[in-house]
Amino acid sequence: MAVAPIDVARSAAQAAGEIIARYFREGVTMRLKNPCDLVSDADVNAEQAIVDVVRAAFPGHAVLAEEKHKDSIDAEHLWVIDPLDGTTNFAHHIPHFGVSIAYLHRGVAQCGVIYNPLRDDWYTAERGAGAFHNGQRLGVSEHKNLNETLVGLGFYYDRGALMEATLTAVHALFQEQIHGVRRFGAASLDLCAVAEGLFGAFFEYVLSPWDYAAGKLLVEEAGGLVTTCTGHTLGLTRSSVLASNGHLHEAMLEVIARHDPGVTA
Ligand code: IPD
Ligand code: CA
Ligand code: CA
Repeated sequence: MAVAPIDVARSAAQAAGEIIARYFREGVTMRLKNPCDLVSDADVNAEQAIVDVVRAAFPGHAVLAEEKHKDSIDAEHLWVIDPLDGTTNFAHHIPHFGVSIAYLHRGVAQCGVIYNPLRDDWYTAERGAGAFHNGQRLGVSEHKNLNETLVGLGFYYDRGALMEATLTAVHALFQEQIHGVRRFGAASLDLCAVAEGLFGAFFEYVLSPWDYAAGKLLVEEAGGLVTTCTGHTLGLTRSSVLASNGHLHEAMLEVIARHDPGVTA
């Protein structure tokens, strides 16, 4: 019998999670990829473990992953992988990070898994079958107005225009009397927080496909909406990302779209 991609994604996340948890306990040297952008053997070895599991099950499938594997996004069968999302938390011993794996057929996500190995937390989704947290079905929040919700956000590794734009947007959101902003440090888990109804919305002005591919499916399967921060369809490129419970999408766009610096390259 053919093996299901969701089962392969789970096995791959488990394998990566064991590697990451071991490095977290035993310690690992962090290196700088770019200013303020950290990487370690945990990221690189976890990615390889995921790719090994995927390729053993589906030898012909393509892989787009953060550290090393860069097949074309136009491949018919594509796995989009962030082996360790939340590397800065990992480096500072904050147990909030995850393995993010999505499988796409002809550009459409079919399943996604986001796994926090230290908390043994599983977020899973299959197209048309809902989103789940440790087996419990997820649903987005009911909030209809910004003044009754929390907004999650992220800062890209930038200390210039992007950071300023994000801070300006945060300032504008506070003028709408939101209950607060949260910056937890792992975009994939932030998207899970939208799917789970903890955040009414989440935005970041630049994310990469491996940050959001699985989380986007989680949000959509939980009843939410994901676009760019200017309200356009999200492709599989480096882009701004706005995820919400749907009700708050227009109100969020109203506040954050005008500040989007439009970085896509
Ligand atoms: C980062 C995290 C962070 C977000 C950054 C991402 P990484 O991913 O998701 O929350 O703000 O933009 O690059 O580098 O830890 O995999
Ligand atoms: Ca990431
Ligand atoms: Ca990463």
